[in-house]
Amino acid sequence: MSKAEEHPLPSYTHPPSPQVTKRNKRFCVLAMLAGMFLFGLNFRSALRVTSLKPYMGCGKGRLHTRPRPHYTLPSGDKIPSVALGVWQASKGEVGQAVKAALAAGYRHIDDAWAYGNEKEVGDAIKESGIPREDIFITSKLWNSFHAPEDIEASLDESLSRLQISYLDLYLIHWPIAFKKEPYEKERKIVVDVALTENPYPTWKKLEELVDKGKIRNIGVSNFNVWRYENLTSNPLKYRPAVNQVELSFGNPQPELLAWAKLKGVLLEAYSPLGSSRQVKETLELPIIKKVAKDLGLTPAQVIISWHVQRGVVVLPKSVHENRIQENFKIVALPQEQFNLIERAAVSKPPQRVVNPSKGWGLDYDIFA
Ligand SMILES: NC(=O)c1ccc[n+]([C@@H]2O[C@H](COP(=O)([O-])OP(=O)(O)OC[C@H]3O[C@@H](n4cnc5c(N)ncnc54)[C@H](OP(=O)(O)O)[C@@H]3O)[C@@H](O)[C@H]2O)c1
Repeated sequence: MSKAEEHPLPSYTHPPSPQVTKRNKRFCVLAMLAGMFLFGLNFRSALRVTSLKPYMGCGKGRLHTRPRPHYTLPSGDKIPSVALGVWQASKGEVGQAVKAALAAGYRHIDDAWAYGNEKEVGDAIKESGIPREDIFITSKLWNSFHAPEDIEASLDESLSRLQISYLDLYLIHWPIAFKKEPYEKERKIVVDVALTENPYPTWKKLEELVDKGKIRNIGVSNFNVWRYENLTSNPLKYRPAVNQVELSFGNPQPELLAWAKLKGVLLEAYSPLGSSRQVKETLELPIIKKVAKDLGLTPAQVIISWHVQRGVVVLPKSVHENRIQENFKIVALPQEQFNLIERAAVSKPPQRVVNPSKGWGLDYDIFA
């Protein structure tokens, strides 16, 4: 992996439209003039209408353009912007889900040691026949293995279950370290305060494993700004490639996103549809349904498209083939609709769906 460098700032702007053919160009100009005539638009706002070109069929006959297909990590590796998430995808169904996703065009799977399904995910990847190097595979280091001497064995276990020789991305799953023994013996949580307050030894070991060729990129998950800066204020050989955090309509975290853009930190949106607890409610929201209807999309496609347009990687989970296919068909939303969703999302009290602080017996909130 090359020396860590700044991640290019994610941006809100659309990718360039496809080449516009001469006939389409004439049609667009006529449509613009008709718009000015019919709706009394001034010339400047008529020009803005061209941002809808992909939706008007003005771009090579395509109805929608797909927003950015990937981001570039500090290593130079490309990370696909949409992944299949496999948390709570149980045994017996996760393999089919992975196969369906790969057949639908996904090339990014977000897994973790703690999900307990790496073996079936590995089998499915192998059976798909798609070359290993064409798939971006993420796993995560569980809390009970943060001690430098425990990390490699846990990574090896993930690699062996996934049946691969390297991970594209390995994340510190949570910024909370558990003592290994009581957790292994009786699932008893005893926080390792020193490693939680100072995750630098964990990070140094991960850097070593990058140099050993077992991991291509390393990152963090569930780190708030304080915890992220606490780690990155150390002399790092490799900066975190991503921070995977909860981002959804219910919990859009605009401050965290603004900070990430400013610092060039790529965020990954987990529970992007609201997770199993909130997905139904999210997809029923009148504003989402209206935008979906106006653009001929499904509510899930609107939400997933909005995430990518915010400049983050998005990790929707499903075990149903039709939904897996649906979730991959995303578009560049017109700016107006994007702004509408963004404003609605950030102008209400946030609601987090994943917060194990109490369950782990902590007397503080991990995210505060
Ligand atoms: N780093 C972390 O700590 C962390 C925490 C949470 C999640 N994650 C990652 O993020 C991924 C996604 O998060 P998540 O699983 O919490 O939630 P999510 O992707 O927001 O939502 C998953 C739920 O939405 C349903 N669903 C998916 N597509 C749908 C569609 N098109 N229409 C209707 N319902 C749909 C799924 O049901 P079906 O499966 O039945 O279709 C499931 O109940 C996880 O799988 C995991 O990889 C990471």
